[in-house]
Amino acid sequence: MKTVALPGGERVPALGLGSWRMGESSARTRADEVAAVRRALDLGLALVDTAEMYADGGAERVIGEALEGRREEVFLVSKVYPHNAGRRAAVAACERSLERLRTDRIDLYLLHWRGTVPLAETVEAFERLRAGGKIRHWGVSNFDVEDLDELWALPHGARCAANQVYYSASQRGVEAALVPRQRGRGLPLMAYCPLDEGALARHAGLAAIGRRHGASAAQVAIAWLLTRPDVIVIPKASRAEHLQQNRTAADLELTPADLAEIDRLLPPPKRRGPIKVV
Ligand SMILES: NC(=O)c1ccc[n+]([C@@H]2O[C@H](COP(=O)([O-])OP(=O)(O)OC[C@H]3O[C@@H](n4cnc5c(N)ncnc54)[C@H](OP(=O)(O)O)[C@@H]3O)[C@@H](O)[C@H]2O)c1
Repeated sequence: MKTVALPGGERVPALGLGSWRMGESSARTRADEVAAVRRALDLGLALVDTAEMYADGGAERVIGEALEGRREEVFLVSKVYPHNAGRRAAVAACERSLERLRTDRIDLYLLHWRGTVPLAETVEAFERLRAGGKIRHWGVSNFDVEDLDELWALPHGARCAANQVYYSASQRGVEAALVPRQRGRGLPLMAYCPLDEGALARHAGLAAIGRRHGASAAQVAIAWLLTRPDVIVIPKASRAEHLQQNRTAADLELTPADLAEIDRLLPPPKRRGPIKVV
């Protein structure tokens, strides 16, 4: 499996599993979701992304159950709500996430998006959590270039280990300014909604490229993101067939002709605009 280096040098898997919309419904669905996360681990998807927001802690609970006895196998990412990102509140929110995740540490803890709490307070809380061993790294999400510049100017701001943003073959707005800025600083980008919440799996052009490789459109969309340096891709999947496909997307080698065709089908915007947020 391809890996990506965090700013401190630790390498993490470039392909993992998202968990938005897990933990929302019945006990039977929940059991299926626990099984799906375990299947992802069996397949070697060794990075799992979640957040306190997802199903109001429900997704973290699903993952906690799935990781029982298998915690060492994954790089675990969770996120704090902006309104919980204060000096003391972030520490309390992290403790609650740890309990739901049934673990003593989160590998990467992200500020889900910018709210009204001053960034300096959040960084202070994250550094306290790191010093106490509750989190190993911290980062941000939905930050554009100006937000990162503000963060990097703060004491310890350069310790930020990743920025998670919307990035997919059809949503390439981040390529105008954010991607080069992050690359220049060696800050990995975690690509969320890599399948446009499932829509890219039905893209006719990507499907045609996939057919040449015996692959699906979704696999092409994931493999395309994996060709980008310093990008970590976190498709969410609960169906066994999807999990299997997504894992093997890492072995799909797109040719220069495939990449040129994707640029033609889904070109990046010519001018910089606001980054897409869901
Ligand atoms: N930081 C943020 O603000 C933020 C925002 C959004 C998302 N995220 C994170 O990023 C993760 C991924 O984004 P997302 O869940 O919104 O969307 P996504 O990963 O782009 O798409 C997920 C959807 O695609 C389907 N799917 C997965 N693999 C497939 C395949 N091989 N073929 C066909 N369909 C497939 C899934 O179906 P099944 O589940 O039925 O298999 C699910 O409906 C989230 O789960 C979350 O962890 C973060």
